[in-house]
Amino acid sequence: MSDLDHGSGPVTRRRRKTLSSCGAATAQPTSGSKVNEKRAKCGQSPVKSRAEGDCHVLQESLLSSASGYSNYRGILNWCVIMLGLTNARLCLENIIKYGILVDPIQVVSLFLKDPYSWPAACLIIVSNFFILAALYTERRLAVGTISETTGLILHSLNLTILLIFPTALILSVTSITPVGSFVSLGIYTVLFLKLYSYKDTNRWCREIRQAKAKRLTRSHSYMYYFIFVPTLCYQLNFPRSSRVRKRFLIRRLLEMLFLMQLLVGLIQQWIVPTIQNSMKPFQEMDFSRMVERMLKLAVPNHFIWLIFFYWFFHSSMNFVAELLQFGDREFYRDWWNSETVTYFWSNWNVPVHKWCLRHFYRPLLRKGTNKFMAKTAVFLLSAFFHEYLVSVPLKMFRFWAFMGMLLQVPLAWVVSHYLSGNYGNAAVWISIIIGQPVAVLMYVHDYYVTHNESST
Ligand SMILES: CC(C)(COP(=O)(O)OP(=O)(O)OC[C@H]1O[C@@H](n2cnc3c(N)ncnc32)[C@H](O)[C@@H]1OP(=O)(O)O)[C@@H](O)C(=O)NCCC(=O)NCCS
Repeated sequence: MSDLDHGSGPVTRRRRKTLSSCGAATAQPTSGSKVNEKRAKCGQSPVKSRAEGDCHVLQESLLSSASGYSNYRGILNWCVIMLGLTNARLCLENIIKYGILVDPIQVVSLFLKDPYSWPAACLIIVSNFFILAALYTERRLAVGTISETTGLILHSLNLTILLIFPTALILSVTSITPVGSFVSLGIYTVLFLKLYSYKDTNRWCREIRQAKAKRLTRSHSYMYYFIFVPTLCYQLNFPRSSRVRKRFLIRRLLEMLFLMQLLVGLIQQWIVPTIQNSMKPFQEMDFSRMVERMLKLAVPNHFIWLIFFYWFFHSSMNFVAELLQFGDREFYRDWWNSETVTYFWSNWNVPVHKWCLRHFYRPLLRKGTNKFMAKTAVFLLSAFFHEYLVSVPLKMFRFWAFMGMLLQVPLAWVVSHYLSGNYGNAAVWISIIIGQPVAVLMYVHDYYVTHNESST
């Protein structure tokens, strides 16, 4: 028998193997329906049957989209290895160029200018006043000693002062640092959203005359339980887990500590020198160098954002929830699969999204506002808080964060109308990876220019 005869035989013909057991099914193309069943389970196209002695059938190459091939695990592994190698090189280059810049002690100076003056900590302690004011207003409303209108005025006053008071203090006190201001303002913003939800939910409960409402709204402990659990939406009975899982708790705690150190280290070692090197092209308005710097910053900025996401939404929120036996752990959903911008915003920060839906979006829809206007209003509110959290600590009003958030509305429209599937997903990723460093560089540049001008 000739070589050719051997090669063309149906059983001896060698086929490519993939990494999975699905791939092994391709080794015997002649076993007909069984093989095709197995391939169908793996999402692969059926093997075409052929006559004895034929070695060619009508079929697409694996890398053509028409081939129906879906097992790209090996390519994914290759991407991860390439990513690892590229970043190992970047890491080495960074250390050779700058040496070790990581300094955990320096972090303390970000929070404290003067060791005898702790304005941010005092601001956080004072926030208890607003919690108690909301609680006592609700107590009066529950027993009927004040009217609904008086209650609404008191709550509105409380919420307005809650936003104005820390702003005024931060802008007037010189010993408070931008990082200390950001943390305390973040806590005040969370408190604003929680107390707004507390006010709305208790009013809804009074409206439907739930008996439990009177008892629970007067409890100090339940009020503080709500303040500490990782949710922004109040309800009379939160779902509770049956016990505290110690191993789960310790794992989350270790993750929190490790990732916190990693975040600080990456910012000191990677972000700070990149930003410092970006100032010259920005001052000289050298456009091509500006783009190059922005793309250079995009990589560490994106890694830090991803680590922050895991640290905050998985490790920290789960840690607090486990400790307080808070049962609802849906802090994020699969935002990484977003094919539209609105899907991303509805799924990456679920506590904020739930608050927006329950206390702002649905009430607007119920009042007859159309969907587009209601969504725009939500993004306007979100833009306000983003700007508030950046401008006040930096004591510099530039509106880049506001514009960035507001731009999400036209971006969402463009992506949902012109892109879908993988293209939509890529557009969402690009907007995250590129959008953030642009905003960061804008603020850093303006901060640098303002402070350099004032010091010269
Ligand atoms: C604006 C926003 C709330 C829109 O969310 P969305 O999910 O795209 O909105 P949809 O129109 O699809 O509807 C959402 C919900 O409202 C409900 N709804 C729709 N029309 C309604 C109506 N007329 N009356 C009452 N409810 C209605 C829907 O049933 C849906 O409920 P479901 O989720 O339980 O199914 C969301 O994009 C958002 O939260 N944006 C801001 C996020 C943000 O700023 N995050 C900051 C993170 S740092």
